[in-house]
Amino acid sequence: MKQATILYGLIIAVGLASTLCLHGHSNANETVQKARIKLGRYLFYDTRLSYNETKACVSCHDPKMAFTDGYRQSSGADGYNVKHNAISLINARYRTTYTWTDSSIKDLTSQLHFPFFNTHPVELGWANHEPQILQRFATNALYQQLFAKAFPGNKQPFQLAQVQTALVAFEGQLVSYGSAYDRYLSGQATALNPSAKAGLALFNSAKLNCNQCHQWTKPFQTEPSIFYQGIRVPSLRNVMLTAPYMHNGQFDDLFQVFKHYETSRQIILNKQEEQQLMAFLSALTDTSYLSNTELLNPFQYR
Ligand code: HEC
Ligand code: HEC
Repeated sequence: MKQATILYGLIIAVGLASTLCLHGHSNANETVQKARIKLGRYLFYDTRLSYNETKACVSCHDPKMAFTDGYRQSSGADGYNVKHNAISLINARYRTTYTWTDSSIKDLTSQLHFPFFNTHPVELGWANHEPQILQRFATNALYQQLFAKAFPGNKQPFQLAQVQTALVAFEGQLVSYGSAYDRYLSGQATALNPSAKAGLALFNSAKLNCNQCHQWTKPFQTEPSIFYQGIRVPSLRNVMLTAPYMHNGQFDDLFQVFKHYETSRQIILNKQEEQQLMAFLSALTDTSYLSNTELLNPFQYR
């Protein structure tokens, strides 16, 4: 009897200790993850990330334009235009493939190879400059602290893999599901005004059939990416903020996009229909992330 009590006592004690341990462990993980997000945020906004200190991620992915840049084609560290229009990073973490045309890039870490190592043209210009760029961070007091906290116990954290891990941790924070359309989907019928509702119906109508490709009822977009004529169908979230449009930035505004569909799909939109579509596309705007200073430039908002 006595032995059994001791045994149970022991089991409980071991159980308790291991729960405490696990708890302590997950707290430590959380602290490290937070430190990685913070380091990633600094790197995202810091032009020291490019070989000649002219460009950072923010140069082509500016929060004010839903993390795009307003150019038809972004320009890299040498001033030459890259091939494509910059893609919004909002909710990018939920996508199943990355970039406009390459269906083989399936995670954010693989995507980073492009801005780092593209050479024709250069984006950040890490090819042939990797040690020099890493040295910049290794010898900077602020980054010594940020890297040490993000990669505790790692004696040589100033490496490409760590830089990319931190950037991906930060990208994971760029999430927004607060548009009028999101509220409408979650059951708030009045979140869309009558014009936007008419636009939504039009978008999904047999006449326009926009949702054949822009499958827009699933706000998490975890369904496989859809490609049409080799181009990934883009998210229309925050589309009001991401002009110019298409993979090559060929259209300056949404009226030009509508014209393109009228021609290519042989449909005619009257003025009212255009306005209704516009009202619906406006309801996909969510800028609430702009008031979360933890996503903004850390050199401006500590
Ligand atoms: C010189 C401009 C430029 C810089 C610098 C740049 N990007 Fe991009 N980014 C682009 C362009 C253009 C695309 C579209 C590329 C394509 O599809 O060919 C893109 C695409 C992406 C995508 C894919 C999004 C999707 O949905 O497919 C992610 C993620 C991304 N960039 C993150 C970053 C991060 C993080 C950095 C900093 C390390 C960065 N970019 C630096 C211009 C840039
Ligand atoms: C057959 C598939 C398909 C259909 C149908 C379709 N789209 Fe698209 N949409 C695409 C693809 C693919 C792109 C990107 C094209 C490119 O980059 O050249 C695109 C791009 C867009 C863009 C630009 C987004 C950006 O960020 O650049 C808008 C806006 C848009 N479509 C709205 C619509 C509307 C409105 C309709 C209905 C009238 C519609 N689409 C029907 C496939 C489709």
